[in-house]
Amino acid sequence: MVESPSPDFYERLKPWLFSQIAQELRSAYRILDLGCGDCKLVRWLAETYGKNTIGVDISGLEFPPEGKRVNCIRADAKSLDFLNEVTIDAVVLIWSLHEMDSPLVVLQEARRVLRLLGEILIVEFPPGSLAQSLWNEDYYSMGELANMLRKAGFWRSEVRLIAHRQLTWAKGFKVSHPEVIR
Ligand SMILES: C[S@@+](CC[C@H](N)C(=O)[O-])C[C@H]1O[C@@H](n2cnc3c(N)ncnc32)[C@H](O)[C@@H]1O
Repeated sequence: MVESPSPDFYERLKPWLFSQIAQELRSAYRILDLGCGDCKLVRWLAETYGKNTIGVDISGLEFPPEGKRVNCIRADAKSLDFLNEVTIDAVVLIWSLHEMDSPLVVLQEARRVLRLLGEILIVEFPPGSLAQSLWNEDYYSMGELANMLRKAGFWRSEVRLIAHRQLTWAKGFKVSHPEVIR
């Protein structure tokens, strides 16, 4: 039986979670983080793996000074027109989708800016998780996340629980069969 996690469970999980994300997105060159908070993930991906990264967050919090290959932008993820000329290989949303007022619009916009073989990765808290007892927020069920990905136009989506069932890991791709565009 798995012991129940402690209140700092999510903070302690971050190094492991970041490495899981890096592994999932290993073939992506440019990564866009929507709802990036303090831009910690994209800075780590840039510094550790040489990824070219962009973080977008709507909040007024100060970003740390920009680093090499890190661009943190204050904007609403619902409208990413400022990325028009940029090729995005992967979009991540880590613990941010549940805070967004129009999540479907954000996912549609994420799909629009992705390149054809691009991937989206969403990490969320599941309902009934430790996060819910800590912060008492509303979280999406696995079915809701799968539906939202489908409605936004993503294909080959997979949604599963990870980290002792305390996180939801959801991913999808811009196109259905990569072969069709080869
Ligand atoms: C719980 S925080 C997660 C931050 C970060 N991803 C992390 O892992 O620490 C959620 C973030 O989503 C951002 N956010 C909410 N709605 C947004 C929107 N429409 N566009 C961009 N960012 C948004 C908030 O400002 C907040 O920083």
